Amino acid sequence: MNPYSKLTFFLILLLVLHVVASDEFFHEERDSLIQLRDSLSSIANLHSNWTGPPCHKDQSRWFGITCSNSHVTEIDLQGIELTGTLQSTALQSITFLTNLSLSNNALHGDLPTLKGLLNLSVVSFSKNRFSGSIPTEYVALSNISRLELQDNLLNGLIPRFEQASLIVFNVSFNFLQGKIPETSALQRFPNSSYRNNLELCGKPLEKACNVTPVPQTQDHDHPVSSTNQAPSSSPISSSTKSLEVWSLALIAMAAVMLPIILILCFLCYKRRQKKAIKLGYNHVGHTGKPKDDKKKTRNVELEFFSSEREVFDLDELLRSSAEMVGKGKLGITYKAMMESGSIVVVKRLKGMSGVTRNDFVHQMQMLGRLRHENLVEIITCYYSTEEKLVIYEHVPSGSLFQLLHGHEGEGKVHLNWEARRYIVKGIARGMAYLHHSLPIHQVPHGNLKSSNVLIDHNNSYPYYSPKITDFGLQQLAGQASTRKLAAGKSPEMSRGDGELTAKADVFCFGIVLLEMMTGKVPSENEEEVLEWVTMISDNKWSTGILDSELVVEKEKHMEMFKLVQIGLECVALQPETRPTMSEVVRRMEEMDEERTWL
Ligand SMILES: *[C@@H]1O[C@H](CO)[C@@H](O)[C@H](O)[C@H]1NC(C)=O
Ligand SMILES: *[C@@H]1O[C@H](CO)[C@@H](O)[C@H](O)[C@H]1NC(C)=O
Ligand SMILES: *[C@@H]1O[C@H](CO)[C@@H](O)[C@H](O)[C@H]1NC(C)=O
Ligand SMILES: *[C@@H]1O[C@H](CO)[C@@H](O)[C@H](O)[C@H]1NC(C)=O
Ligand SMILES: *[C@@H]1O[C@H](CO)[C@@H](O)[C@H](O)[C@H]1NC(C)=O
Ligand SMILES: *[C@@H]1O[C@H](CO)[C@@H](O)[C@H](O)[C@H]1NC(C)=O
Repeated sequence: MNPYSKLTFFLILLLVLHVVASDEFFHEERDSLIQLRDSLSSIANLHSNWTGPPCHKDQSRWFGITCSNSHVTEIDLQGIELTGTLQSTALQSITFLTNLSLSNNALHGDLPTLKGLLNLSVVSFSKNRFSGSIPTEYVALSNISRLELQDNLLNGLIPRFEQASLIVFNVSFNFLQGKIPETSALQRFPNSSYRNNLELCGKPLEKACNVTPVPQTQDHDHPVSSTNQAPSSSPISSSTKSLEVWSLALIAMAAVMLPIILILCFLCYKRRQKKAIKLGYNHVGHTGKPKDDKKKTRNVELEFFSSEREVFDLDELLRSSAEMVGKGKLGITYKAMMESGSIVVVKRLKGMSGVTRNDFVHQMQMLGRLRHENLVEIITCYYSTEEKLVIYEHVPSGSLFQLLHGHEGEGKVHLNWEARRYIVKGIARGMAYLHHSLPIHQVPHGNLKSSNVLIDHNNSYPYYSPKITDFGLQQLAGQASTRKLAAGKSPEMSRGDGELTAKADVFCFGIVLLEMMTGKVPSENEEEVLEWVTMISDNKWSTGILDSELVVEKEKHMEMFKLVQIGLECVALQPETRPTMSEVVRRMEEMDEERTWL
């Protein structure tokens, strides 16, 4: 290269640099956003949208981003089903940020740090699944006007916020506890900013803080239940009055129709005829009512947990033709085909008459925000004193139980090792996600068994994708009914000594795993389940225990036994010795890696 071409090269380089620079933006801001984009997933497909520079002067071509003077100043990503965790420092470089809203998504993990983001004025993390405590450094956000943290899984104490700039502050529907700090900033907010927490006390709540932890009977004036459960704070209860009139009519109709429906269901089920029946009542039954003309406007609106789903109201749901698909300890499950042609699954819960609206709705909103390819999605729910419905997405194929133990014959699917491995891993991943997402639940699933694992078989062989259902209801069902659920069959429960923990779910997972490997149906009875496990562990290293369909794949026996070994550890008598679900996932992934080296 001669000096001239060197110079030309240099000039061109300068020119290029100049062009880039005129499209001015701040790299550390872009890098932060790109990292954010890559660590989360969403229906908004940020990946294809957040490309190029985020800001061009005061303009942004990035979804949800607003710029000012080439700086990112607003991030508004509400309600786009963002899932994943935020890194603690995710936003730290975006120093000109004024508005940040991530509300109404499915983010989990700790709240991010907002250190140094002194221009922040609006911060909303509401309606997610953030856990951990509220970072105390948030008290240093000197220009904050809105701080919305409601409807998460936050625990611990409320930091001493003292900012006079606060106009909106909400921490309701979390698991916070302790005394609400008596700062003038915090005392200005109504009690609805603090309701529905684990154990908050002090003004502005009616519940006084006890100096020593004395039982609630010491509390005078107001019974504690009215403090925590005043129905007026429920997000869906603004129309309580009309709802009540409505549900009375509904209950009356249901009372008349229910026996008929049940008999019809029974007959349908018996004859295995797929003849449609009505889930609730129909128009004919309703026309006798004097208020009928107003009926159209009185449809009970259901709250939908995902914006992607088709919306319907209670009336449409009850008009759908329904077919009973299962009857379990927690209620009856129907497949409901709506007039629009779409299909959902409705679970009519039983034995939950003591559950309050707030508890039910809070729990369902929490479960409704879970998003994982191995979990069945909860679409919406309905609460009345008499009737509690959970509406799930419909998974077309049957359950793992049917797949494993279905009748021999033409339609019988043979599950080879590859398919079973894939299914087991999917279940483990779904369970690990559940355990991670619901850290405060005593037993996050509570009722894991092969009939509660649905198999999505739309994809091509061998990819039977498992989807776990029936999770999180144990929390509502209460101690008494837990016994009847799968977790109630764990040794700690049948011994009656231990508290149930997430490890009871691990036990149930172990049972499902062993059931898949042996092809044998585990007993419904607690003691027999343990005998069944003992029988398998006594045969530990013999092919005698394997399902006959697996025995033929001789070269895979070593892998199979590794999986059986994991299963046996999961069903260990002592809960402490069982691995966690994430350990199980890790070990299965290790097995996959070993494979690729062979
Ligand atoms: C991103 O999405 C927004 C609106 O959703 C659109 O206006 C913009 O052009 C998109 N940008 C790119 C780079 O695709
Ligand atoms: C905050 O915003 C003001 C303008 O309103 C600006 O001058 C200042 O540099 C910003 N502070 C930070 C820390 O970005
Ligand atoms: C950002 O916050 C300011 C100050 O509270 C507010 O006036 C403005 O409307 C917010 N912008 C958006 C997009 O919400
Ligand atoms: C503080 O926030 C208000 C809006 O709430 C805004 O107008 C003002 O510029 C902010 N001040 C600083 C120093 O960021
Ligand atoms: C706080 O949030 C809850 C739940 O979204 C809502 O019901 C309540 O009205 C809010 N209170 C205030 C003061 O914003
Ligand atoms: C708290 O809210 C209830 C209504 O839910 C109201 O009756 C009561 O007066 C409120 N208490 C205070 C201290 O504001």
